[in-house]
Amino acid sequence: MAPVDNGADRLVAEQLRYYRARAAEYDATSYRAVPAERDSVPAIVDRLGISGDAVELACGTGIWTAELARHAATLTALDGAPEMLALARRRVPPSVRFQQVDLFDWTPTSSWDVVFFSAWLSHVPADRFGAFWSSVAAALRPGGRVLALDELPARSFHEDRIDDEVAVRTLQDGTTHEIVKVFWAPNLLVNRLASLSWRASVTPIEHDWFILEARR
Ligand SMILES: C[S@@+](CC[C@H](N)C(=O)[O-])C[C@H]1O[C@@H](n2cnc3c(N)ncnc32)[C@H](O)[C@@H]1O
Repeated sequence: MAPVDNGADRLVAEQLRYYRARAAEYDATSYRAVPAERDSVPAIVDRLGISGDAVELACGTGIWTAELARHAATLTALDGAPEMLALARRRVPPSVRFQQVDLFDWTPTSSWDVVFFSAWLSHVPADRFGAFWSSVAAALRPGGRVLALDELPARSFHEDRIDDEVAVRTLQDGTTHEIVKVFWAPNLLVNRLASLSWRASVTPIEHDWFILEARR
């Protein structure tokens, strides 16, 4: 019997369809198009002190992938959208491995010293949060670190929001799509992760972004 679809299933499926359709215009309509934001990416990655084997989740068009590749001994990049993966592949050295993975149905078969994701945590709905972090725990080697970048609540004015979890995005062709968009307050995020046995800290950085660092 087919599983019963609920609102969260519909929303995460629509979110992935939205990013597949947005891939070709992503660099022109994301922070990549804002020079001050785009130009700060290499220095932010330099500050993270990344070494060893790394995996990037939801790599998109490879804006961060290209910088992570300068530091990691090996780099694997995952995304659910083949259109995103194709664009990211063009941006990085051939040593970077790519895999198409639905992160809401991900059982890691390898483990890494660093698990990195940018602009992904805010797309994880509350009812998938625990399962997502279980997958991340399975992907992390003992002593490893999660490093994630996302937007502080101060940036929520950019969004056409329906409620605390759902926003509406419009593509250049005029089509509209509902996606998950959660603006985490740092203290709530740290406490939520503590309830899942993560030791986490959140550091606000430029552009009202934050860096999350988490360990088991
Ligand atoms: C906001 S973009 C972030 C891309 C990149 N990390 C960056 O900062 O530019 C979100 C990414 O999540 C990917 N994505 C959406 N749903 C996904 C899913 N269920 N599994 C894996 N990736 C997904 C999209 O294809 C897109 O590349």
